Amino acid sequence: MCGIIGCSGRSDETLDVLLSGLEGLEYRGYDSAGVALSNGTLSVCKREGEIHRLQQAVDGDLGGPVGIGHTRWSTHGPPSDANAHPHTDCSGGVAVVHNGIVENYADLRAELTDRGHEFDSDTDTEVVPHLVEEELADGATFEEAFRAAVTRLEGSYALAAVAEDSAAILATRHDSPLVVGVGDDAAYLASDVPAFLDYTDRVVYLEDDEFARLETGSWTVTDADGGLIDKSVSRVEWDAEETAKSGYDHYMLKEIHEQPRALRKCLRGRVDERTGSVAVEALEGLNPGSVQFVACGTSYHAALFGAQTLREAGVPAQAFLASEYATSPAPVTDDTLVVGITQSGETADTLSALREAQHRGVETLAMTNVVGSTAARECDRTLTIRAGPEIGVAATKTFSSQVVACNLLSAAVAERGDAREVVEALRDLPGQVQKILDSSRAERVAEEYVDSEAYFFVGRGHHHPVALEGALKLKEISYEHAEGFPAGELKHGPLALVTAETPVFAVATGSGEKATKTVGNVKEVEARDAPVVAVTDGASDVGRYADVVLEIPETHARVAPVLANVQLQLVAYYIAKKLGRSIDKPRNLAKSVTVE
Ligand code: M6R
Repeated sequence: MCGIIGCSGRSDETLDVLLSGLEGLEYRGYDSAGVALSNGTLSVCKREGEIHRLQQAVDGDLGGPVGIGHTRWSTHGPPSDANAHPHTDCSGGVAVVHNGIVENYADLRAELTDRGHEFDSDTDTEVVPHLVEEELADGATFEEAFRAAVTRLEGSYALAAVAEDSAAILATRHDSPLVVGVGDDAAYLASDVPAFLDYTDRVVYLEDDEFARLETGSWTVTDADGGLIDKSVSRVEWDAEETAKSGYDHYMLKEIHEQPRALRKCLRGRVDERTGSVAVEALEGLNPGSVQFVACGTSYHAALFGAQTLREAGVPAQAFLASEYATSPAPVTDDTLVVGITQSGETADTLSALREAQHRGVETLAMTNVVGSTAARECDRTLTIRAGPEIGVAATKTFSSQVVACNLLSAAVAERGDAREVVEALRDLPGQVQKILDSSRAERVAEEYVDSEAYFFVGRGHHHPVALEGALKLKEISYEHAEGFPAGELKHGPLALVTAETPVFAVATGSGEKATKTVGNVKEVEARDAPVVAVTDGASDVGRYADVVLEIPETHARVAPVLANVQLQLVAYYIAKKLGRSIDKPRNLAKSVTVE
Protein backbone atom coordinates (compact mmCIF):
# COMPACT_ATOMS: atom_id res chain seq x y z
CA MET A 1 0.00 0.00 0.00
CA CYS A 2 1.04 3.60 -0.39
CA GLY A 3 3.44 5.17 2.08
CA ILE A 4 4.11 8.78 3.11
CA ILE A 5 7.25 10.37 4.50
CA GLY A 6 7.84 14.03 5.28
CA CYS A 7 10.65 15.99 6.89
CA SER A 8 11.10 19.53 8.02
CA GLY A 9 14.71 19.98 9.02
CA ARG A 10 18.03 21.08 7.57
CA SER A 11 18.37 21.82 3.86
CA ASP A 12 21.36 19.52 3.51
CA GLU A 13 19.60 16.59 5.19
CA THR A 14 15.94 16.59 4.21
CA LEU A 15 16.33 14.89 0.83
CA ASP A 16 18.36 12.06 2.40
CA VAL A 17 15.75 11.63 5.10
CA LEU A 18 13.05 11.37 2.44
CA LEU A 19 14.94 8.84 0.35
CA SER A 20 15.86 6.66 3.30
CA GLY A 21 12.31 7.03 4.60
CA LEU A 22 10.98 5.74 1.29
CA GLU A 23 13.26 2.72 1.65
CA GLY A 24 11.79 2.22 5.11
CA LEU A 25 8.34 2.15 3.52
CA GLU A 26 9.24 -0.27 0.71
CA TYR A 27 7.95 -3.25 2.66
CA ARG A 28 4.39 -1.93 2.39
CA GLY A 29 4.50 -2.73 -1.33
CA TYR A 30 4.66 -0.08 -4.07
CA ASP A 31 5.10 0.41 -7.80
CA SER A 32 6.45 3.97 -8.03
CA ALA A 33 7.92 6.62 -5.79
CA GLY A 34 8.56 10.34 -5.68
CA VAL A 35 9.62 13.36 -3.65
CA ALA A 36 8.88 17.08 -3.58
CA LEU A 37 11.03 19.66 -1.78
CA SER A 38 10.42 23.30 -1.16
CA ASN A 39 13.16 25.85 -1.01
CA GLY A 40 11.27 28.96 -2.00
CA THR A 41 10.71 27.11 -5.25
CA LEU A 42 9.19 23.67 -5.49
CA SER A 43 11.02 20.75 -7.12
CA VAL A 44 9.48 17.36 -7.78
CA CYS A 45 11.02 14.09 -8.93
CA LYS A 46 9.11 10.84 -9.36
CA ARG A 47 9.63 7.52 -11.09
CA GLU A 48 7.76 4.36 -11.82
CA GLY A 49 9.49 1.28 -10.40
CA GLU A 50 11.87 0.71 -7.54
CA ILE A 51 13.24 3.44 -5.32
CA HIS A 52 16.75 3.12 -6.75
CA ARG A 53 15.33 4.49 -10.05
CA LEU A 54 14.15 7.55 -8.16
CA GLN A 55 17.50 7.85 -6.37
CA GLN A 56 19.29 7.81 -9.74
CA ALA A 57 16.91 10.41 -11.14
CA VAL A 58 17.25 12.85 -8.27
CA ASP A 59 19.64 15.58 -9.33
CA GLY A 60 21.65 18.18 -7.48
CA ASP A 61 19.02 20.89 -7.94
CA LEU A 62 16.58 19.08 -5.73
CA GLY A 63 16.80 20.34 -2.18
CA GLY A 64 15.27 22.37 0.59
CA PRO A 65 14.48 22.19 4.28
CA VAL A 66 10.95 20.81 3.86
CA GLY A 67 9.90 17.92 1.72
CA ILE A 68 7.46 15.07 1.27
CA GLY A 69 7.86 11.66 -0.35
CA HIS A 70 5.60 8.82 -1.34
CA THR A 71 5.56 5.19 -2.39
CA ARG A 72 2.52 4.46 -4.57
CA TRP A 73 0.55 1.23 -4.85
CA SER A 74 -1.74 1.75 -7.83
CA THR A 75 -5.46 2.14 -7.38
CA HIS A 76 -6.46 4.80 -9.95
CA GLY A 77 -4.38 4.40 -13.09
CA PRO A 78 -1.48 2.06 -13.83
CA PRO A 79 2.05 2.46 -12.45
CA SER A 80 3.78 5.28 -14.39
CA ASP A 81 5.92 8.36 -13.80
CA ALA A 82 2.85 10.55 -14.28
CA ASN A 83 0.69 8.63 -11.83
CA ALA A 84 3.41 8.54 -9.16
CA HIS A 85 3.05 11.02 -6.30
CA PRO A 86 3.63 13.87 -5.47
CA HIS A 87 1.00 15.51 -7.64
CA THR A 88 1.04 19.19 -8.41
CA ASP A 89 -1.37 21.95 -9.44
CA CYS A 90 -1.35 23.75 -12.80
CA SER A 91 1.39 26.15 -11.75
CA GLY A 92 3.61 23.54 -10.11
CA GLY A 93 3.54 25.57 -6.91
CA VAL A 94 1.78 23.02 -4.68
CA ALA A 95 2.65 19.34 -4.27
CA VAL A 96 0.56 16.71 -2.51
CA VAL A 97 1.03 13.08 -1.50
CA HIS A 98 -1.92 10.93 -0.53
CA ASN A 99 -2.74 7.50 0.87
CA GLY A 100 -6.31 6.27 0.57
CA ILE A 101 -9.03 6.97 -1.93
CA VAL A 102 -10.82 10.24 -2.76
CA GLU A 103 -14.22 8.79 -3.53
CA ASN A 104 -15.71 11.94 -5.11
CA TYR A 105 -12.65 12.65 -7.25
CA ALA A 106 -14.51 12.19 -10.56
CA ASP A 107 -16.99 14.98 -9.70
CA LEU A 108 -14.21 17.22 -8.40
CA ARG A 109 -12.09 16.61 -11.46
CA ALA A 110 -14.98 17.42 -13.80
CA GLU A 111 -15.68 20.60 -11.86
CA LEU A 112 -12.01 21.65 -11.88
CA THR A 113 -11.62 20.81 -15.57
CA ASP A 114 -14.63 23.02 -16.36
CA ARG A 115 -12.83 25.84 -14.60
CA GLY A 116 -9.75 25.35 -16.77
CA HIS A 117 -7.52 23.09 -14.68
CA GLU A 118 -5.37 20.61 -16.55
CA PHE A 119 -4.59 17.17 -15.20
CA ASP A 120 -1.46 15.14 -15.83
CA SER A 121 -2.41 11.84 -14.21
CA ASP A 122 -5.20 9.30 -13.86
CA THR A 123 -5.16 9.53 -10.09
CA ASP A 124 -7.83 10.57 -7.64
CA THR A 125 -5.16 12.47 -5.69
CA GLU A 126 -4.46 15.10 -8.31
CA VAL A 127 -7.68 16.97 -7.56
CA VAL A 128 -6.21 17.99 -4.19
CA PRO A 129 -3.38 20.31 -5.36
CA HIS A 130 -5.77 21.90 -7.86
CA LEU A 131 -8.30 22.58 -5.10
CA VAL A 132 -5.52 24.14 -3.02
CA GLU A 133 -4.45 26.20 -6.03
CA GLU A 134 -7.92 27.70 -6.41
CA GLU A 135 -8.02 28.74 -2.77
CA LEU A 136 -4.55 30.30 -3.02
CA ALA A 137 -5.69 32.22 -6.09
CA ASP A 138 -8.55 33.61 -3.99
CA GLY A 139 -6.05 34.99 -1.50
CA ALA A 140 -6.02 32.23 1.13
CA THR A 141 -2.83 31.38 3.00
CA PHE A 142 -1.35 27.95 2.28
CA GLU A 143 -2.86 26.56 5.48
CA GLU A 144 -6.29 28.09 4.83
CA ALA A 145 -6.19 26.76 1.28
CA PHE A 146 -5.20 23.25 2.40
CA ARG A 147 -7.96 23.14 5.01
CA ALA A 148 -10.54 24.38 2.53
CA ALA A 149 -9.47 21.78 -0.03
CA VAL A 150 -9.78 19.00 2.53
CA THR A 151 -13.38 19.96 3.30
CA ARG A 152 -14.25 19.08 -0.31
CA LEU A 153 -12.96 15.51 -0.05
CA GLU A 154 -14.97 12.37 0.57
CA GLY A 155 -13.33 9.04 1.26
CA SER A 156 -10.23 8.05 3.14
CA TYR A 157 -7.01 9.99 3.17
CA ALA A 158 -3.70 10.68 4.77
CA LEU A 159 -2.48 13.81 3.01
CA ALA A 160 0.67 15.88 3.13
CA ALA A 161 1.38 19.01 1.12
CA VAL A 162 4.18 21.47 0.51
CA ALA A 163 4.12 24.73 -1.42
CA GLU A 164 6.72 26.90 -3.10
CA ASP A 165 6.29 29.92 -0.86
CA SER A 166 5.97 28.08 2.40
CA ALA A 167 8.41 26.58 4.86
CA ALA A 168 5.71 24.24 6.21
CA ILE A 169 4.45 20.75 5.58
CA LEU A 170 0.70 20.54 6.12
CA ALA A 171 -0.93 17.21 6.78
CA THR A 172 -4.19 15.63 7.83
CA ARG A 173 -5.82 12.23 8.00
CA HIS A 174 -9.20 10.58 7.76
CA ASP A 175 -9.37 6.77 8.01
CA SER A 176 -5.73 6.41 7.01
CA PRO A 177 -2.81 6.51 9.44
CA LEU A 178 -0.39 9.38 9.86
CA VAL A 179 2.14 9.94 12.60
CA VAL A 180 4.46 12.84 13.44
CA GLY A 181 8.05 12.08 14.49
CA VAL A 182 9.64 14.45 16.98
CA GLY A 183 13.36 15.00 16.50
CA ASP A 184 15.75 17.40 18.29
CA ASP A 185 16.00 19.82 15.41
CA ALA A 186 13.77 18.20 12.80
CA ALA A 187 10.17 17.07 12.61
CA TYR A 188 9.04 14.09 10.58
CA LEU A 189 5.81 12.79 9.19
CA ALA A 190 4.99 9.28 8.01
CA SER A 191 2.22 6.85 7.42
CA ASP A 192 4.26 4.29 9.26
CA VAL A 193 6.83 4.64 12.05
CA PRO A 194 9.67 2.59 10.42
CA ALA A 195 9.99 5.36 7.82
CA PHE A 196 11.68 7.68 10.33
CA LEU A 197 12.83 5.27 13.02
CA ASP A 198 16.47 5.93 12.09
CA TYR A 199 16.00 9.51 13.26
CA THR A 200 13.62 9.41 16.19
CA ASP A 201 11.55 7.08 18.33
CA ARG A 202 9.36 9.89 19.70
CA VAL A 203 5.98 10.02 18.00
CA VAL A 204 2.68 11.83 18.01
CA TYR A 205 -0.24 9.88 16.56
CA LEU A 206 -2.72 11.97 14.63
CA GLU A 207 -6.42 11.25 15.03
CA ASP A 208 -8.93 11.52 12.22
CA ASP A 209 -9.55 15.09 11.04
CA GLU A 210 -6.63 16.57 12.98
CA PHE A 211 -4.17 18.78 11.10
CA ALA A 212 -0.41 18.82 11.59
CA ARG A 213 1.93 21.63 10.65
CA LEU A 214 5.65 20.87 10.53
CA GLU A 215 7.98 23.81 10.26
CA THR A 216 11.72 24.28 10.81
CA GLY A 217 11.91 21.33 13.14
CA SER A 218 8.79 22.22 15.11
CA TRP A 219 5.29 20.80 14.94
CA THR A 220 1.77 21.69 15.99
CA VAL A 221 -1.50 19.80 15.80
CA THR A 222 -4.84 21.52 15.44
CA ASP A 223 -8.46 20.45 15.07
CA ALA A 224 -10.66 21.01 12.05
CA ASP A 225 -11.48 24.55 13.31
CA GLY A 226 -7.85 25.46 13.85
CA GLY A 227 -7.90 25.08 17.65
CA LEU A 228 -4.57 23.94 19.09
CA ILE A 229 -4.59 20.37 20.45
CA ASP A 230 -2.29 19.40 23.29
CA LYS A 231 -0.95 16.09 21.94
CA SER A 232 1.17 13.75 23.98
CA VAL A 233 4.48 12.47 22.67
CA SER A 234 4.96 8.70 23.02
CA ARG A 235 8.06 6.60 22.62
CA VAL A 236 7.87 3.58 20.31
CA GLU A 237 9.52 0.48 21.68
CA TRP A 238 10.89 -0.60 18.30
CA ASP A 239 14.44 0.37 17.43
CA ALA A 240 16.12 0.86 14.07
CA GLU A 241 18.08 -2.40 14.43
CA GLU A 242 14.81 -4.31 14.47
CA THR A 243 13.95 -2.91 11.07
CA ALA A 244 17.32 -3.79 9.51
CA LYS A 245 18.07 -7.06 7.70
CA SER A 246 20.97 -7.80 10.05
CA GLY A 247 22.86 -10.15 7.70
CA TYR A 248 19.88 -12.26 6.63
CA ASP A 249 19.16 -12.58 2.90
CA HIS A 250 15.57 -11.52 3.46
CA TYR A 251 13.48 -9.88 6.14
CA MET A 252 11.21 -12.90 6.04
CA LEU A 253 14.02 -15.24 7.08
CA LYS A 254 15.15 -12.81 9.75
CA GLU A 255 11.61 -12.57 11.09
CA ILE A 256 11.19 -16.35 11.10
CA HIS A 257 14.36 -16.52 13.18
CA GLU A 258 13.16 -13.77 15.51
CA GLN A 259 10.24 -15.90 16.67
CA PRO A 260 11.75 -17.23 19.90
CA ARG A 261 12.42 -13.68 21.05
CA ALA A 262 9.04 -12.40 19.85
CA LEU A 263 7.22 -15.15 21.73
CA ARG A 264 9.14 -14.46 24.93
CA LYS A 265 8.17 -10.81 24.65
CA CYS A 266 4.54 -11.70 24.03
CA LEU A 267 4.45 -13.77 27.22
CA ARG A 268 6.63 -11.63 29.48
CA GLY A 269 4.84 -10.61 32.67
CA ARG A 270 1.54 -12.00 31.47
CA VAL A 271 1.42 -15.54 32.81
CA ASP A 272 1.94 -17.14 36.16
CA GLU A 273 3.44 -20.53 35.45
CA ARG A 274 2.79 -21.73 38.98
CA THR A 275 -0.96 -21.20 38.93
CA GLY A 276 -1.51 -21.21 35.20
CA SER A 277 -3.26 -17.88 35.52
CA VAL A 278 -3.03 -15.16 32.96
CA ALA A 279 -2.70 -11.53 34.01
CA VAL A 280 -3.07 -9.19 31.07
CA GLU A 281 -4.22 -5.69 31.90
CA ALA A 282 -6.14 -5.39 28.64
CA LEU A 283 -8.19 -8.46 29.50
CA GLU A 284 -9.05 -7.61 33.10
CA GLY A 285 -12.73 -7.98 33.95
CA LEU A 286 -13.51 -9.46 30.56
CA ASN A 287 -16.36 -11.96 30.72
CA PRO A 288 -17.95 -12.18 27.27
CA GLY A 289 -21.02 -14.30 26.61
CA SER A 290 -19.72 -14.90 23.09
CA VAL A 291 -16.79 -13.81 20.96
CA GLN A 292 -16.64 -12.93 17.28
CA PHE A 293 -13.22 -12.62 15.64
CA VAL A 294 -12.79 -10.47 12.54
CA ALA A 295 -9.57 -10.55 10.53
CA CYS A 296 -8.01 -10.99 7.09
CA GLY A 297 -5.39 -13.26 5.57
CA THR A 298 -2.91 -14.67 8.04
CA SER A 299 -4.63 -12.90 10.90
CA TYR A 300 -7.84 -14.68 9.91
CA HIS A 301 -6.04 -17.99 10.29
CA ALA A 302 -5.06 -16.94 13.81
CA ALA A 303 -8.71 -15.98 14.34
CA LEU A 304 -9.86 -19.46 13.30
CA PHE A 305 -7.47 -20.85 15.89
CA GLY A 306 -8.69 -18.36 18.51
CA ALA A 307 -12.35 -19.17 17.92
CA GLN A 308 -11.73 -22.88 18.23
CA THR A 309 -9.72 -22.42 21.39
CA LEU A 310 -12.42 -20.31 22.99
CA ARG A 311 -15.11 -22.81 22.09
CA GLU A 312 -13.04 -25.49 23.79
CA ALA A 313 -12.91 -23.23 26.83
CA GLY A 314 -16.70 -23.07 26.89
CA VAL A 315 -17.18 -19.67 25.26
CA PRO A 316 -19.21 -19.60 22.02
CA ALA A 317 -16.92 -18.13 19.39
CA GLN A 318 -16.70 -17.72 15.64
CA ALA A 319 -14.16 -16.31 13.21
CA PHE A 320 -15.24 -14.11 10.30
CA LEU A 321 -13.39 -12.74 7.32
CA ALA A 322 -13.46 -9.04 8.08
CA SER A 323 -14.30 -8.08 4.50
CA GLU A 324 -17.46 -10.17 4.71
CA TYR A 325 -18.36 -9.19 8.26
CA ALA A 326 -18.26 -5.51 7.37
CA THR A 327 -21.19 -5.95 4.98
CA SER A 328 -22.89 -9.06 6.46
CA PRO A 329 -22.33 -8.86 10.21
CA ALA A 330 -23.37 -11.74 12.44
CA PRO A 331 -26.02 -11.15 15.11
CA VAL A 332 -24.66 -9.92 18.46
CA THR A 333 -25.99 -9.69 21.99
CA ASP A 334 -25.09 -7.21 24.73
CA ASP A 335 -22.31 -9.41 26.03
CA THR A 336 -20.68 -10.20 22.68
CA LEU A 337 -17.02 -9.26 22.37
CA VAL A 338 -15.70 -8.55 18.86
CA VAL A 339 -11.97 -9.14 18.52
CA GLY A 340 -10.13 -7.67 15.54
CA ILE A 341 -6.87 -9.50 14.89
CA THR A 342 -4.65 -7.29 12.78
CA GLN A 343 -0.87 -7.17 12.78
CA SER A 344 -0.75 -3.67 11.35
CA GLY A 345 -3.86 -2.35 13.04
CA GLU A 346 -4.55 -0.52 9.79
CA THR A 347 -6.23 -3.11 7.56
CA ALA A 348 -9.24 -1.31 6.11
CA ASP A 349 -11.47 -4.41 6.01
CA THR A 350 -10.77 -5.20 9.66
CA LEU A 351 -11.27 -1.60 10.76
CA SER A 352 -14.57 -1.55 8.91
CA ALA A 353 -15.73 -4.73 10.61
CA LEU A 354 -14.70 -3.37 14.01
CA ARG A 355 -16.53 -0.11 13.32
CA GLU A 356 -19.62 -2.07 12.35
CA ALA A 357 -19.40 -3.88 15.68
CA GLN A 358 -19.00 -0.59 17.54
CA HIS A 359 -21.92 0.84 15.66
CA ARG A 360 -23.99 -2.00 17.05
CA GLY A 361 -22.84 -1.15 20.56
CA VAL A 362 -20.72 -4.16 21.46
CA GLU A 363 -17.33 -4.16 23.14
CA THR A 364 -14.32 -4.43 20.83
CA LEU A 365 -10.78 -5.63 21.39
CA ALA A 366 -7.86 -5.04 19.02
CA MET A 367 -5.24 -7.77 18.97
CA THR A 368 -2.44 -5.98 17.17
CA ASN A 369 1.30 -5.59 16.82
CA VAL A 370 1.28 -1.83 16.44
CA VAL A 371 0.82 0.32 19.50
CA GLY A 372 -0.96 3.50 18.46
CA SER A 373 -2.44 1.95 15.30
CA THR A 374 -5.96 2.86 14.29
CA ALA A 375 -7.37 -0.43 15.57
CA ALA A 376 -5.60 0.06 18.89
CA ARG A 377 -6.91 3.57 19.25
CA GLU A 378 -10.46 2.88 18.17
CA CYS A 379 -11.16 -0.32 20.10
CA ASP A 380 -12.27 -0.43 23.72
CA ARG A 381 -9.37 -2.71 24.63
CA THR A 382 -6.02 -3.53 23.03
CA LEU A 383 -4.01 -6.70 23.45
CA THR A 384 -0.60 -6.06 21.88
CA ILE A 385 1.19 -9.12 20.55
CA ARG A 386 4.67 -7.53 20.96
CA ALA A 387 6.25 -9.27 17.96
CA GLY A 388 8.35 -6.24 17.00
CA PRO A 389 8.31 -4.69 13.53
CA GLU A 390 7.51 -7.09 10.71
CA ILE A 391 8.86 -5.82 7.41
CA GLY A 392 8.43 -8.82 5.08
CA VAL A 393 5.04 -8.72 3.41
CA ALA A 394 4.51 -12.34 4.40
CA ALA A 395 3.38 -12.46 8.00
CA THR A 396 5.47 -14.93 10.01
CA LYS A 397 6.41 -14.02 13.55
CA THR A 398 3.19 -12.10 13.99
CA PHE A 399 1.12 -15.22 13.27
CA SER A 400 2.98 -17.11 15.99
CA SER A 401 2.48 -14.27 18.43
CA GLN A 402 -1.20 -13.99 17.49
CA VAL A 403 -1.69 -17.69 18.24
CA VAL A 404 -0.04 -17.20 21.61
CA ALA A 405 -2.15 -14.12 22.29
CA CYS A 406 -5.29 -16.12 21.43
CA ASN A 407 -4.20 -18.66 24.03
CA LEU A 408 -3.84 -15.84 26.56
CA LEU A 409 -7.28 -14.50 25.69
CA SER A 410 -8.77 -17.94 25.96
CA ALA A 411 -7.14 -18.63 29.33
CA ALA A 412 -8.33 -15.24 30.61
CA VAL A 413 -11.99 -15.75 29.74
CA ALA A 414 -12.24 -19.54 29.97
CA GLU A 415 -15.30 -21.07 31.57
CA ARG A 416 -13.36 -24.29 31.88
CA GLY A 417 -10.14 -25.69 30.60
CA ASP A 418 -6.54 -26.53 31.08
CA ALA A 419 -4.93 -23.11 31.29
CA ARG A 420 -2.18 -24.39 33.54
CA GLU A 421 -0.99 -26.99 31.03
CA VAL A 422 -1.18 -24.46 28.21
CA VAL A 423 0.83 -21.92 30.20
CA GLU A 424 3.47 -24.52 30.95
CA ALA A 425 3.68 -25.39 27.28
CA LEU A 426 3.92 -21.72 26.34
CA ARG A 427 6.91 -21.37 28.65
CA ASP A 428 8.77 -23.99 26.63
CA LEU A 429 7.60 -22.72 23.26
CA PRO A 430 10.38 -20.21 22.43
CA GLY A 431 13.05 -22.86 23.07
CA GLN A 432 11.18 -25.40 20.96
CA VAL A 433 10.87 -22.95 18.07
CA GLN A 434 14.62 -22.37 18.34
CA LYS A 435 15.19 -26.11 18.14
CA ILE A 436 13.22 -26.29 14.89
CA LEU A 437 15.13 -23.32 13.45
CA ASP A 438 18.41 -25.01 14.31
CA SER A 439 17.57 -28.39 12.83
CA SER A 440 14.82 -28.07 10.22
CA ARG A 441 15.06 -30.12 7.04
CA ALA A 442 12.74 -27.69 5.29
CA GLU A 443 15.39 -26.54 2.83
CA ARG A 444 15.92 -30.12 1.61
CA VAL A 445 12.16 -30.59 1.28
CA ALA A 446 12.05 -27.42 -0.79
CA GLU A 447 14.83 -28.74 -3.05
CA GLU A 448 13.01 -32.02 -3.53
CA TYR A 449 9.61 -30.60 -4.40
CA VAL A 450 10.33 -27.21 -5.91
CA ASP A 451 9.18 -28.19 -9.38
CA SER A 452 5.81 -29.60 -8.41
CA GLU A 453 2.57 -28.75 -10.18
CA ALA A 454 0.76 -27.66 -7.03
CA TYR A 455 0.99 -28.04 -3.27
CA PHE A 456 -1.72 -29.08 -0.82
CA PHE A 457 -1.79 -28.69 2.94
CA VAL A 458 -4.09 -30.57 5.29
CA GLY A 459 -4.73 -30.57 9.01
CA ARG A 460 -7.59 -31.09 11.46
CA GLY A 461 -8.79 -29.06 14.42
CA HIS A 462 -6.05 -26.67 15.54
CA HIS A 463 -4.03 -27.68 12.51
CA HIS A 464 -6.68 -26.61 10.02
CA PRO A 465 -5.59 -22.95 10.35
CA VAL A 466 -1.99 -24.16 10.02
CA ALA A 467 -2.84 -25.90 6.74
CA LEU A 468 -4.48 -22.71 5.45
CA GLU A 469 -1.55 -20.60 6.60
CA GLY A 470 1.03 -22.99 5.12
CA ALA A 471 -0.68 -22.71 1.75
CA LEU A 472 -1.11 -18.93 1.94
CA LYS A 473 2.55 -18.44 2.81
CA LEU A 474 3.70 -20.60 -0.05
CA LYS A 475 1.40 -19.09 -2.67
CA GLU A 476 2.07 -15.48 -1.76
CA ILE A 477 5.85 -15.67 -1.94
CA SER A 478 6.44 -18.45 -4.51
CA TYR A 479 3.52 -17.67 -6.88
CA GLU A 480 2.92 -21.43 -7.02
CA HIS A 481 -0.53 -22.91 -6.67
CA ALA A 482 -1.09 -23.98 -3.09
CA GLU A 483 -4.29 -24.77 -1.18
CA GLY A 484 -5.02 -25.69 2.40
CA PHE A 485 -7.93 -27.89 3.51
CA PRO A 486 -9.32 -29.47 6.63
CA ALA A 487 -7.91 -32.98 6.24
CA GLY A 488 -11.37 -34.57 6.20
CA GLU A 489 -12.53 -32.38 3.31
CA LEU A 490 -10.02 -33.68 0.79
CA LYS A 491 -12.20 -36.60 -0.21
CA HIS A 492 -15.17 -34.28 -0.82
CA GLY A 493 -13.62 -32.71 -3.90
CA PRO A 494 -9.99 -31.58 -3.73
CA LEU A 495 -8.78 -35.18 -3.94
CA ALA A 496 -9.51 -34.97 -7.67
CA LEU A 497 -6.50 -32.63 -7.93
CA VAL A 498 -4.09 -34.91 -6.10
CA THR A 499 -1.50 -36.63 -8.31
CA ALA A 500 2.10 -37.77 -8.16
CA GLU A 501 3.05 -34.18 -9.03
CA THR A 502 1.29 -32.56 -6.09
CA PRO A 503 2.97 -32.97 -2.72
CA VAL A 504 0.61 -33.01 0.25
CA PHE A 505 1.82 -31.51 3.51
CA ALA A 506 -0.04 -33.20 6.36
CA VAL A 507 0.07 -31.74 9.86
CA ALA A 508 -0.69 -34.19 12.65
CA THR A 509 0.37 -34.07 16.29
CA GLY A 510 -0.53 -36.13 19.30
CA SER A 511 -2.05 -39.58 19.13
CA GLY A 512 -5.70 -38.77 19.55
CA GLU A 513 -8.66 -39.08 17.25
CA LYS A 514 -7.73 -36.09 15.11
CA ALA A 515 -4.27 -37.47 14.38
CA THR A 516 -5.63 -40.93 13.69
CA LYS A 517 -8.19 -39.59 11.25
CA THR A 518 -5.56 -37.44 9.56
CA VAL A 519 -3.45 -40.57 9.08
CA GLY A 520 -6.46 -42.06 7.28
CA ASN A 521 -6.58 -39.03 4.97
CA VAL A 522 -2.86 -39.33 4.35
CA LYS A 523 -3.39 -42.93 3.19
CA GLU A 524 -5.97 -41.62 0.71
CA VAL A 525 -3.45 -39.31 -0.92
CA GLU A 526 -0.67 -41.87 -0.73
CA ALA A 527 -2.90 -44.24 -2.70
CA ARG A 528 -3.01 -41.58 -5.44
CA ASP A 529 0.81 -41.58 -5.55
CA ALA A 530 1.10 -38.08 -4.08
CA PRO A 531 4.31 -37.41 -2.18
CA VAL A 532 3.50 -36.80 1.48
CA VAL A 533 5.42 -34.51 3.80
CA ALA A 534 4.33 -35.08 7.38
CA VAL A 535 4.76 -32.33 9.94
CA THR A 536 4.51 -34.22 13.18
CA ASP A 537 5.72 -34.74 16.71
CA GLY A 538 5.97 -38.49 16.03
CA ALA A 539 3.15 -39.40 18.41
CA SER A 540 0.97 -40.88 15.64
CA ASP A 541 2.13 -43.15 12.84
CA VAL A 542 1.61 -40.49 10.15
CA GLY A 543 5.36 -40.63 9.54
CA ARG A 544 5.07 -44.23 8.35
CA TYR A 545 3.03 -43.13 5.36
CA ALA A 546 5.09 -40.05 4.59
CA ASP A 547 7.95 -39.63 2.13
CA VAL A 548 9.55 -37.04 4.38
CA VAL A 549 8.99 -36.05 7.98
CA LEU A 550 9.44 -32.54 9.33
CA GLU A 551 9.70 -33.08 13.05
CA ILE A 552 8.44 -30.84 15.77
CA PRO A 553 8.83 -31.27 19.54
CA GLU A 554 5.89 -32.61 21.55
CA THR A 555 3.79 -30.02 23.28
CA HIS A 556 0.22 -29.11 24.22
CA ALA A 557 -2.32 -29.40 21.39
CA ARG A 558 -3.03 -25.67 21.56
CA VAL A 559 0.63 -24.75 21.24
CA ALA A 560 1.63 -27.27 18.57
CA PRO A 561 0.21 -25.14 15.69
CA VAL A 562 2.97 -22.58 16.25
CA LEU A 563 5.66 -25.26 15.93
CA ALA A 564 4.12 -26.93 12.88
CA ASN A 565 3.71 -23.57 11.21
CA VAL A 566 7.38 -22.68 11.67
CA GLN A 567 8.32 -25.71 9.56
CA LEU A 568 5.87 -24.63 6.86
CA GLN A 569 7.19 -21.05 6.93
CA LEU A 570 10.65 -22.41 6.20
CA VAL A 571 9.38 -24.64 3.37
CA ALA A 572 7.63 -21.65 1.76
CA TYR A 573 10.70 -19.48 2.18
CA TYR A 574 13.12 -21.97 0.60
CA ILE A 575 10.82 -22.86 -2.30
CA ALA A 576 10.40 -19.15 -3.09
CA LYS A 577 14.14 -18.62 -2.77
CA LYS A 578 14.89 -21.47 -5.16
CA LEU A 579 12.46 -19.96 -7.63
CA GLY A 580 14.21 -16.60 -7.32
CA ARG A 581 11.07 -14.76 -6.19
CA SER A 582 10.86 -11.34 -4.63
CA ILE A 583 10.34 -12.81 -1.18
CA ASP A 584 9.99 -9.69 0.93
CA LYS A 585 7.91 -7.82 -1.60
CA PRO A 586 5.83 -10.34 -3.55
CA ARG A 587 4.18 -9.06 -6.70
CA ASN A 588 0.80 -7.34 -6.34
CA LEU A 589 0.83 -7.54 -2.55
CA ALA A 590 1.18 -4.93 0.16
CA LYS A 591 2.08 -5.25 3.80
CA SER A 592 -0.71 -3.10 5.04
CA VAL A 593 -3.91 -3.15 3.02
CA THR A 594 -5.58 0.16 3.68
CA VAL A 595 -8.33 -0.03 1.05
CA GLU A 596 -11.45 -2.20 1.18
O1 M6R B 1 -2.14 -6.28 9.23
P1 M6R B 1 -3.14 -7.38 9.17
O2 M6R B 1 -2.82 -8.51 10.06
O3 M6R B 1 -4.54 -6.89 9.40
O4 M6R B 1 -3.08 -7.92 7.68
C1 M6R B 1 -4.01 -8.85 7.21
C2 M6R B 1 -3.53 -9.50 5.94
O5 M6R B 1 -3.43 -8.57 4.91
C3 M6R B 1 -2.17 -10.17 6.14
O6 M6R B 1 -2.21 -11.08 7.19
C4 M6R B 1 -1.73 -10.92 4.87
O7 M6R B 1 -2.60 -11.97 4.61
C5 M6R B 1 -0.30 -11.40 5.07
N1 M6R B 1 0.61 -10.52 4.40
C6 M6R B 1 -0.06 -12.76 4.57
O8 M6R B 1 1.25 -13.15 4.81
